[in-house]
Amino acid sequence: MLDEKMTAELIAKAIEQLAFSYTPYSNFKVGAALLSKNGTIYTGCNIENAAYTPTNCAERTAFFKAVSEGVKEFQAICVVGGKDGVLTEYAPPCGVCRQVMMEFCNPEKFQVILAVSPEKYQIFTLREILPLGFGPDNL
Ligand code: THU
Repeated sequence: MLDEKMTAELIAKAIEQLAFSYTPYSNFKVGAALLSKNGTIYTGCNIENAAYTPTNCAERTAFFKAVSEGVKEFQAICVVGGKDGVLTEYAPPCGVCRQVMMEFCNPEKFQVILAVSPEKYQIFTLREILPLGFGPDNL
């Protein structure tokens, strides 16, 4: 389902997004590349705000771009991030972004790629990073 070529493409696209990250307050830059089931890749960056709480994470930017275009089925997301855009460690999705993933993705199947470079990455299922998550099936 997620071959090495696609993994490399998602990592490259997530890294490209760091250039668009708007972070005058934290300077912590995050990029994301979300692969839909139809093969389209939706990118995202974090977008901060002077009032702080309106800040949107990179992952949610990517999800909301897709959903706002009628796409609601996803295979995988790659997330990269670091202070000043320098990638030294994995940037795991915050709890709010995990919850948004839970809304649209099968937790057993959806793949979350955390990367610091095209060579160094690790893949988790949504279930692994959000055990006992509450989602549409709970209602
Ligand atoms: N951030 C993301 O974009 N994704 C996450 O999952 C974690 C946090 C952003 C939000 C804020 O702009 C900066 O990183 C520091 O929290």
